[in-house]
Amino acid sequence: MHLAVLLFALALSVVTFALDNGLMRTPPMGWLAWERYRCDIDCTNDPKNCISENLFIDMADRLSEDGWRELGYVYVNIDDCWSSKKRDEEGRLQPDPKRFPGGIPKLARYMHDRGLKLGIYGDMGTYTCGGYPGTTLDKIEIDAQTFADWGVDMFKFDGCYSNASEQEQGYPLMSKALNATGRPIGYSCSWPAYQGGLPPKVNYSQLGEICNLWRNYGDIEDSWDSVLNIIDWFFENQDVLSAAAGPGRWNDPDMLVIGDFGLSMDQSRAQMSLWAIMAAPLFMSNDLRTISSGARSILQNKMVISINQDPLGIQGRRILKEKSGIEVFWRPLSDNASALVFFSRRHDMPYRYQTSLKKLSYPSGSYTIFDVFTGKTTALKDSTDFVVSVNPTGVVMWYVSAPAKMNLRQFYRGGRLLGSYHDDENGIPRVFL
Ligand code: GLA
Repeated sequence: MHLAVLLFALALSVVTFALDNGLMRTPPMGWLAWERYRCDIDCTNDPKNCISENLFIDMADRLSEDGWRELGYVYVNIDDCWSSKKRDEEGRLQPDPKRFPGGIPKLARYMHDRGLKLGIYGDMGTYTCGGYPGTTLDKIEIDAQTFADWGVDMFKFDGCYSNASEQEQGYPLMSKALNATGRPIGYSCSWPAYQGGLPPKVNYSQLGEICNLWRNYGDIEDSWDSVLNIIDWFFENQDVLSAAAGPGRWNDPDMLVIGDFGLSMDQSRAQMSLWAIMAAPLFMSNDLRTISSGARSILQNKMVISINQDPLGIQGRRILKEKSGIEVFWRPLSDNASALVFFSRRHDMPYRYQTSLKKLSYPSGSYTIFDVFTGKTTALKDSTDFVVSVNPTGVVMWYVSAPAKMNLRQFYRGGRLLGSYHDDENGIPRVFL
């Protein structure tokens, strides 16, 4: 090898920490069937909602026609209960022929023709969680190759019906097998969720090397209790989890249930905001055919999406828990900007929370604040106290610009510059030029 090439390769191997497929440099976004549609296979009585190719075609149509794709929601992911109960004569998985008469390649083409991607589901073990054929160790290569042959773009590998040592072999083997197909396939591992989600049982540096994202914790359900339980677990363990995340390697607190039945609008904004703070994958599990305009506008909010998709990929943290039940979350963003979320655990009335950026440890300077959900912009000095009104189980979310060290003011009369000064960090005019 030429020396320069060798050095280049060496440099690459040093800076490449995540699964080396180049995918998902920002958290993946799209739609996933499970939470809303579960294992509904009753296409005779429930044709609109059963797990069938029609459901994924319907969602693909909505994603591409209702403005979702342009915002980044490109994955259309099949979850459990898609397959036939038997493998084919060659030992390959096959879709249920009644519910997926066109086969998976046809669905993949349908997605690709519309600038979307197709995801599929399997299970490291004897059966999937829903009782369909699993991928035992001897089936890993053939299944990876089957998905690649079908044109699949993402694969979720669940962990029902296997033990810790099978998982320890199976998850890395599947990573290798997917890479060996030569097709870029985003790899979602449920492994940590089956091992309690925490070290020493879970090795997050290894996960970052073999998976693009991973479920750390239990399944989300369509209720505020469930969302809050997930929020609590992720932020209680934020030291471990934030260190594990970065471009190409994401913690996955599970699907967005915004647009379903269990969350109020305030709770929906809370889920969206905190998923953005966590740099979480954004997979909606809802009915895009009938979603309300309120839920849609939360899910399509450009500023919250851009915070979620920030290229630095740093997972944010809870920085304050007040006795009042107000909590403050923070995520550093590129260009020296940041995101703040003020969240209320209260159940009484909108709480008027008073603080300042300085009290939240911001460096001195003047900032521009964009309120993510009202669209209002304000200027704010670090030392100036402000009040945010936070609804019960709701949030206020801010995008905070980089600090402008000082505020240059210039005075003109008749087009002539009379003088200028800078504000100091307390907003007091001091430094005259
Ligand atoms: C597990 C997973 C869920 C879903 C179901 C399917 O519970 O955690 O996300 O995939 O299996 O059976």
